[in-house]
Amino acid sequence: MHTIVDWEPNTSQWSQVLAAAHGCVVSDRISDNALWPIYGPLIPKSGHQAVVIGQLGQSLDGRIATPSGHSHYINGAAALVHLHRLRALVDAVVVGVGTVVADNPQLTIRRASLAPGKTQPARVIIDPHGRIPPGARCLTDDGARRIVIGAKAPAGTERMDLPPEGDPAGILKALAERGLPRVLVEGGANTLSRFLAAGCLDRLHIMTGPIIIGSGPTGVTLPAIDTLDKALRPDVSTYALPGGDILFDCAFSKRSGS
Ligand SMILES: NC(=O)c1ccc[n+]([C@@H]2O[C@H](COP(=O)([O-])OP(=O)(O)OC[C@H]3O[C@@H](n4cnc5c(N)ncnc54)[C@H](OP(=O)(O)O)[C@@H]3O)[C@@H](O)[C@H]2O)c1
Repeated sequence: MHTIVDWEPNTSQWSQVLAAAHGCVVSDRISDNALWPIYGPLIPKSGHQAVVIGQLGQSLDGRIATPSGHSHYINGAAALVHLHRLRALVDAVVVGVGTVVADNPQLTIRRASLAPGKTQPARVIIDPHGRIPPGARCLTDDGARRIVIGAKAPAGTERMDLPPEGDPAGILKALAERGLPRVLVEGGANTLSRFLAAGCLDRLHIMTGPIIIGSGPTGVTLPAIDTLDKALRPDVSTYALPGGDILFDCAFSKRSGS
């Protein structure tokens, strides 16, 4: 277990990670950076390499909300900083329309700095049936690309076709073709589970908060298996954050379609 003490939103360590992520030379001293083991693997070796990370915040008993949908906040302030840092390292943040309906998230970076000159990542909503509510905050025109995957897209946004059967690999391929190869699948549970089941995640960050909810939706649901030899067994590193959250950084060695 690693304890990460440098968890202020913007520090020299975070600036060093950002510089590496945006093409600057990585100095030998990066190995001294306590954030590097977490964020270094998310930085592609070349500009065009695809990197796909999923994230999930959950309780000790694996819940992401109460039965009535109340979810603020399962994780603490440091975990929110971490989420915003993940957004800062990718080209696109993907959510399912269920999250937009439930939480009306902005999906912008506000708790961490962006690399100089870098715009907010594209916001991508998978919405096969046109359920995005009017005025959804993630569609605010702030200069970031806003992409809706589905039959129709609100004015001012880009529209992408949903691949047959909502194939996550097809979604990632289409995003890469639009210049968005680094992707954060931010949620919710249904969307994240589809990408995980399809073998499309390079990494999954599960942030477990020190809280037991006892009922309500769980985070990951995959097709049923009979025996544990068929369970996913990623390489896992753990990090303790201030406030009691534990980050499980799950690395998947092979990704389908890559
Ligand atoms: N704890 C966390 O880290 C976290 C993060 C984000 C959200 N959340 C929570 O998650 C909950 C929402 O999650 P959710 O599972 O209900 O919804 P969701 O995953 O946000 O959205 C699911 C919907 O998106 C569409 N969709 C997504 N991927 C698709 C694909 N590959 N192909 C076809 N359709 C696709 C479908 O829309 P249609 O139903 O219209 O077909 C699907 O029902 C909220 O309570 C939110 O608070 C938690």
